[in-house]
This record gives sequence, C-alpha cells and structure tokens, in this order.
Amino acid sequence: MPADRSEFDPVELLTHAFRQAIASIEGAPADADPLITPSKRAELGDFQSNAAMPLAKILGRKPREIASELAEKVGPLLSDLVEPLTDADIAGPGFINVRLKPEALARLLAQLDSPALGLEAPAEPETVVVDLCGVNLAKQMHVGHLRSTVIGDALARLFERLGHTVIRQNHVGDWGLPIAMVTRTLMEQAAQGKLDLDAVTLDDLDRLYKEAKAESTPPTAKLKMWRAWARHPKVDAEFEDDVRTLEGEHEAAEANLSASKQTLVRLQNHDAEVEAVWQKLYDVTIAACLDNCARLKTRITEQDSAGESSYREELAPLVADLIERGVAEEEAGGAVVVRVGGIEEPCLVRKSDGGYLYATTDVAAIRRRVRTLGAHRVVYCVDARQALHFRQVFGAAHKAGYATTGAGEAKLEHAAFGMVLGEDRRPFKTRSGENIRLSELLDEAIARAGEKVAESSPDTPEAERLPIAEVVGIAAIKYADLSNDRIKDYVFSYDRMVALQGNTGPYLLYALARIKSIFRKAAELGIDTAGFERAPLAVGEPAEKALAMQLLAYPSSVRRSAEHLEPHRLCAYLYDLAGAFSGFFEHCPVLKGEAGVRASRLRLCALTARVLEDGLETLGIPHVDRM
Ligand code: ARG
Repeated sequence: MPADRSEFDPVELLTHAFRQAIASIEGAPADADPLITPSKRAELGDFQSNAAMPLAKILGRKPREIASELAEKVGPLLSDLVEPLTDADIAGPGFINVRLKPEALARLLAQLDSPALGLEAPAEPETVVVDLCGVNLAKQMHVGHLRSTVIGDALARLFERLGHTVIRQNHVGDWGLPIAMVTRTLMEQAAQGKLDLDAVTLDDLDRLYKEAKAESTPPTAKLKMWRAWARHPKVDAEFEDDVRTLEGEHEAAEANLSASKQTLVRLQNHDAEVEAVWQKLYDVTIAACLDNCARLKTRITEQDSAGESSYREELAPLVADLIERGVAEEEAGGAVVVRVGGIEEPCLVRKSDGGYLYATTDVAAIRRRVRTLGAHRVVYCVDARQALHFRQVFGAAHKAGYATTGAGEAKLEHAAFGMVLGEDRRPFKTRSGENIRLSELLDEAIARAGEKVAESSPDTPEAERLPIAEVVGIAAIKYADLSNDRIKDYVFSYDRMVALQGNTGPYLLYALARIKSIFRKAAELGIDTAGFERAPLAVGEPAEKALAMQLLAYPSSVRRSAEHLEPHRLCAYLYDLAGAFSGFFEHCPVLKGEAGVRASRLRLCALTARVLEDGLETLGIPHVDRM
C-alpha cells in the first residue's frame, strides 16, 4: 500500500522539496535524507535541514557552500510554504533554517478542515484481512485475548479509516482432539444427569475442559519411573500398590483418549448427536466472546467467525494437492512436510497417524483469504510466541502459490504482540496462578474508573456517572494496551491506566471533554459564535503555530500507523496533540478575545476536537462529551 505523501504535514512537504533540491545538485546521491528536524532555537526558525554536512563529505566540497546552493534550489520549490531563504538562514557549519509562513499554515489548516480530515479514500482500495481475537472453544477469554482483540480491531479500523475494504476473521480454535475430549465429557455428564445441556455455561465448559484433558492424559512418564523404582528389591513390596494405582490410571486415561478419538471421528463424519453437543460448545463460547467484544467496543461480530472447523473438508484435498505438485514431501513414517529455504524447521501439514494440524488449517485459511475473500494483505494479530508457526505457514503458502493474486503475491504479515505482565513483571495471573478472565479485567477497570470519576466530579449524580465510568474504564484498558509498542511486554496497572494525568486514555478523553466544554461555556455566557466554522484562521502566536503543526500531521500519522501496523504511533500522536492543545489553551484566551481572534480560535478548538475524536474512533477508543 503506498503511503501517499501527505499534502498537509509541513515536515513531509519540506522533506519532499529538499529531496528534490538535493537530487539536482551535481553528484549528489538520489536517496539522500534531507534530515529535517524541528529547530533547536525558535528564534532561528521552525525547522532546519542538516543535509549539507554529510553531502559535503560525499562530494568533497565545503558544507556552507553546499548549504547555499541547496537553499537557492529549494527556495522556489517552497515559496508558498516558507519565508524567503537568505544567507542569514544558514547557520554554523551549514544548517539551513526555515520559517513557515503563518498564512501557509492557515491555508493548509483550512484545507485539512474538511469532512475527510485529509484522509481521502484511495482510488483503488485494497482488501485487507485481519486475523484477530482467536478464541478457543470451552475456554474463557483471558488477558492474552485482550491484545489480539483490541490491537487487531484497531489495525482493522486503521485500514477502514484509510478507505480500504477490511474483513475481520476470528480464527476460532474449535476443532481437533482437545475439542473432541470436552465434547465427549460433556455428552457423558449430560447422559449421567450431572449437567443440563441447555443450561450449560462457559464456566462449566472451562472446568470440563481441564477435567477432560487431565482424564485423557496417560501418566506414561510417571509410570515408567515408578516401575523402574519398584524393581529395586528393597522398595518392591512397599511401592507395589502405588504402581498398581498408577497402572489403573494409565489404563483409564488410555481408554478415555481412545474414546475421545472415536468422538473426533464421529464429529468428522457429521454424526448428528455429537455435532449437536459440539454446536452447544460453540454457541456458548462464541456468545461469551462476542459479549466481551461488544463491551470492548470492537467491530467484531458473529459474521467474522471463521473457525478452524470451517476448513475441515479442505484439509485432505489441500495436502493431496501439495504432494501432487511436489510442494510437500511425504516422509518415511508417513508424515507430510513442506520445506522452505531459510526456515529452520519444515512445516508439518500431516502427522504420521494421518491427522492434520494447526498449521494445515492456517495454510487452508490463507488460500481462502487470498483466493475467495480477495485479500491483498493478510495481517495476523497473534502472540509473538507463534512467530515460527507463521513463518512456516507463510512460507508454505507462498511456495504453494496459495497467496498469489492477479496482481502478485499477497502480503502476509504477523503483527506479533508481547505479553501482559503483572506488577511483579511475571505473566499477569491471579494469586493462585490462574489466567485472569477478560470479563473480570473489564469489570475492575470500570470500577476503578468509577472511583476516579467520582473523585473528579463529585457533583455529577451517580446515574450519570456510571455510563461515563464504563466508557472511561474501557478507554483506559484499551489505550494502555494500544499505546505500548505491541511487540513489547507491558506491565498491567489499573492505577496507572485510569490516571487522569500522563499518557493515558482518561487523559485524552478529558482533553476532548474540555474542548467541548468551551462551546458549552460560550453558550452559557451568551457569546455569539455564529459562523466560526468558516472563520479565517490566524496562527501567529507560537502556541497556535505549534497546535497547527500538530494538527497538520494527522493524516500522515494515521497512514504511518497503518503502514507499520503500529497503533501506538497514533496513540503517541494524539497524546502530543492533547499536549499542544493544552499549551494553546494556556497561552491563547479563546472566549475573551475580540470577535475575529475568538472565531479563529474557536475554529482551532473545534478542529482539534474533531481530530481527537477521529483518532480515538480510528483506534476504537470510546469517548464522552463530558467527564
Ligand atoms: N486460537 C489460537 C490460539 O489461541 C489463535 C489463533 C490465531 N490465528 C490463526 N490464524 N492461527 O493460540
């Protein structure tokens, strides 16, 4: 996806013009970086280019001489944007200082102030599939699913905001032996009257899952050890009973395992009785998942679920196709693998016992996503620990030609994320070492946000506070997750995420609510604000200028965030915008000024609010009008 140069961002406009000017200097490399940075000293200008020094080295000329030539060449390209460049603008060894024209900033701002906020839909939108959420049947969503859901949805929204066609795919883990184990246990318990199938909850399923797994795992290693131990003449008699017990457990587990395998076969053969119970498992899990997705204000819906089971009929023909075309090899024991150069371990697509794997399904998923859904780009928002799996699967799919479109290879990307840690810097768990449920995490964040809201606005009646707390809590949890570089682990702290100060969700919501309150106040005071939306903009004050430059960077910031699959970039942008607004509000009275200034500043306020709202919306962070 080409990240179009923003026609708004002064830094990008300067970079582009300087690049052109450098290219026209004899002997200069075509790709030289213009090295545009904000000026260290405001009295010298707004930005400087530091390109002359490295160029001088390459060309064996004097840096100041290069700087003069560059200034002369870039001047005409930038005449609309910057004050005329003179020798006085070349400082030190050869820095070129440039000062933006206030009227140029005002003109750019007025252009940005359109419904699209500088982000027009592309002429040829692409289709982007985002693999997100990825829950597993019969398991509660836990803190790991927070990341795949929240970051995945934010990435999807970023592409949507840029005008691309986005298809969310919840690759539900709903197939295979473990699922057959729970299904069998559930059937048994229902038959014994221990459980009412119609009233079964996800908690029941979660418990059954653990039981079923334990009951079907033969204690083979332990038994071996005991047998070796018991053979010793001295301990023989003493341990005989223990070995016998273990042998019994082993036998029972073997029996359970083979019963589960039979259940899997029945499931594969669409046995109506087994399928009905499996469907129950599915419905209960997905209902709880969608409930969490809705509470998290994501756009993930029922239509987005495409579980592993949906590929089951495709796996045998897919592996046959791979073998037939020589993409995969059958090994001596009967296992089938795809070898791809540069990847240390081959991708196993069929086990020696004939079973298919997680990887087989993922190869099938790529084929469907590219060929049927028409994806140009497939983005996997999945835990970083699955990095090797995705390299194998992507390699296998490319080798098989399953990722090939009319326009070339689809881009397959793993948007990997790190772990959520507790304050002790270990994986975030309950005291007893259990995974923390996502729904409980949300409840707690909302409760903490409620306390904050009560503290900061004690006069607001409780009935009004509760919905605000709900939004603030969800915003806090989402922003804390999104604002961290996704590849890094981060420490989960309720106290930090609900704070009104610092780089937090509530701080941004508060900044937005504060801007909205300016307009309420104007109405209360009976100040005439009519027509401010089209008022001429003036950005003469340094704080106005700083705010203007931050606003103008919005389109490029959204583009870059999407291009790099990094929502934290947009978070950082919004945080800086809130900071720039704060500076503006502190130094530039809005309602107290004379009519012309007031109208211009009101327009700046309104534009800031719209950009903040649009940015939060693009990240999937809910907001409120007042806090
Ligand atoms: N269910 C998987 C897990 O819990 C995540 C699925 C990720 N998506 C994929 N296409 N493999 O690890």
